[in-house]
Amino acid sequence: YDAVDVIRTKRDRRELSDGQIDWVIDAYTRGAVADEQMSALAMAVLLNGMTHRETARWTSAMIASGERMDFSSLRSRAGRTLPTADKHSTGGVGDKITLPLAPLVAVFGVAVPQLSGRGLGHTGGTLDKLEAIPGWRASLTNDEMMSQLGDVGAVICAAGAGLAPADRKLYALRDVTGTVEAIPLIASSIMSKKIAEGTGALVLDVKVGSGAFMKDEASARELAQTMVALGQDAGVNTVALLTDMDTPLGLTAGNAIEVEESLEVLAGGGPEDVVELTVRLAEEMLAAAGVHDADPARALSDGRAMDVWRRMIAAQGGDPDAPLPAARESETVYAPADGVLVGLDALAVGVAAWRLGAGRARKEDAVQAGAGVRLHAKPGAFVRAGEPLMTLLTDTPERFARAKEALEGAVTIAPEGARPARRLIIDRI
Ligand code: URA
Repeated sequence: YDAVDVIRTKRDRRELSDGQIDWVIDAYTRGAVADEQMSALAMAVLLNGMTHRETARWTSAMIASGERMDFSSLRSRAGRTLPTADKHSTGGVGDKITLPLAPLVAVFGVAVPQLSGRGLGHTGGTLDKLEAIPGWRASLTNDEMMSQLGDVGAVICAAGAGLAPADRKLYALRDVTGTVEAIPLIASSIMSKKIAEGTGALVLDVKVGSGAFMKDEASARELAQTMVALGQDAGVNTVALLTDMDTPLGLTAGNAIEVEESLEVLAGGGPEDVVELTVRLAEEMLAAAGVHDADPARALSDGRAMDVWRRMIAAQGGDPDAPLPAARESETVYAPADGVLVGLDALAVGVAAWRLGAGRARKEDAVQAGAGVRLHAKPGAFVRAGEPLMTLLTDTPERFARAKEALEGAVTIAPEGARPARRLIIDRI
C-alpha cells in the first residue's frame, strides 16, 4: 500500500478497502505514515465522510493498535461473576455525573471500569475533578484496576498508554489540523477506546447544545447512531441518550466544587438535573448489564452509593473526609434585571471556568483545584436585578477580567411567564 494512494482514494470520494484502512492505521502508529499524510487523509474523511463499513473497520484497526482489556474473569468477593458497564459523555460544562454514577451502579453488583480523561479546552475532565481530593491518584496498573473492581466494584482511573495508541496519536494530530469535527472520526475515536477497555455494556451520554461538541440535534443524533452501531457490532450492549448542554449541569463548573456537588448527590440531595441524569444513566447502565429490578434513587438516599464512593476514593489513596481545597479569591456576578432566567449559556460558563484556572490551555498546564463558577440560579428561576447570579472563583485574581468577558451576553432574562427552551433528556437511541 501507498499513503498517497490511500489519500487520493478518499479525496476522490471512493471507498477505502479494509486492507487500506488496516494498513494506514498500523503504518501511522508505527511512524511509517507521516503526520502530514495522516492529516491530509483526516481532512479528506472530514470533507467526504466514511460509510458504516469503513468506520467500523477504522475502529477495529485502532483497537488492534494496542491492548484489549478483558473483564470476563472478574469475580466479586463472594465468587460471583460480575457484569460490567461503563458510561461515556461526549463532554459538557458542569458534567460531574461520572462521580456519583460509578459508585451508584456498583451498589447493584455491576462493576464499573470507568477509564476517564483530563480536560482540554472548556470542558472539564473527570480526573482533574477527582484530583482535587487530597491523596487521590489517577494512575493504576491493570492488576490494581482488576482487584479494585472485584473489591469495591467501581474504579475511575486514567486510561493506560497501551489502549488504542493509534487514537492517542491521531486525536492529537486532529486537534491541531482542524479535523476533530468529523462524525466518523469522533465515533471511531471514542468507541475504539471503549471497546478496547472491554466493558460488556456501554451507555453514551451524547450532549447537544452550545457547550457541547455537537451544537445541533441532528448531528448529535447522527453521532449517537454511529457509535451505537459500532458498539453493537463489536458485541458491546450499547445505548445512547441525547441530553441538553445549552446550560451547565448542576450549580457548579470547576474541580473541587464539582466534587462537593457530587457529594451532595451521594448524600441524597443535590441539584435536580444532576440527580435526574445520574439516576437515568444508572437505570440505563444496569438494564444494559442485565439488572432490571434496581432502584438507584433509593441507593442515593439511603447512603449505599456513598459507602461505595468512600471505599472507591480510599482504594486510590484519597481521603474521603479531607476538606476540599477552596479558591483564595472570589467575585460575584449580579442579575442585570428582574424576570425569568431563560438562558445561561453553557459555553460561556465553561470558558469562564477555564479562564479562572479550572481548565488548561496546553496539555502540560496544571489546573487549580478550587477555581470555577458557582451558579446561584438556573434557567426557569425568577431573579431580581442586583441579586447574585454567579460566584467566580480563582487563586489568581488577574483572571477575573477575562472570565467576565467570556460571560458577556451569557445571561438571558425574559418577562414573567417565559419558559426555558429545552428538556434535559431529549431522546434515547
Ligand atoms: N473525544 C474523543 O475521545 N475523541 C474525539 O474524536 C472526540 C472526542
